[in-house]
Amino acid sequence: MIRIEHIGIAVKDLTKAEELYARLLGSASYKREEVASEGVITSFFQVGPNKIELLESTRPDGPIAKAIEKRGEGMHHIAFEVTDIKAEMARLKAEGFTLLNEEPKRGADNKWVCFIHPKSANGVLVELCQEVR
Ligand code: CO
Repeated sequence: MIRIEHIGIAVKDLTKAEELYARLLGSASYKREEVASEGVITSFFQVGPNKIELLESTRPDGPIAKAIEKRGEGMHHIAFEVTDIKAEMARLKAEGFTLLNEEPKRGADNKWVCFIHPKSANGVLVELCQEVR
């Protein structure tokens, strides 16, 4: 793993959260992007070499809506940048981690992504991401 690429935060109202995080971080969101397959709309902030990803659900039964229902708004996942996502997925699988998708899928911000079940990582949803080239 190269670095923490971003931290994902589940929010109920993306516009309100964007305003708040712009005030918190001192810089505005640089991009909004919908990922229809995941039922989310995302908004990204650059913080030095890392990013904050705000996520709002676009449907009541989506994963972000369910997470907010269970635990309220807040930290949703930590994303690590990797150079070879398939190799990293194979390595983590061999280490006993539970992958939530067997093949890399397209995520926001031009990335291939894979999620690791929080049950296999001390309650933390982990995302692997690799820049699509
Ligand atoms: Co993410």
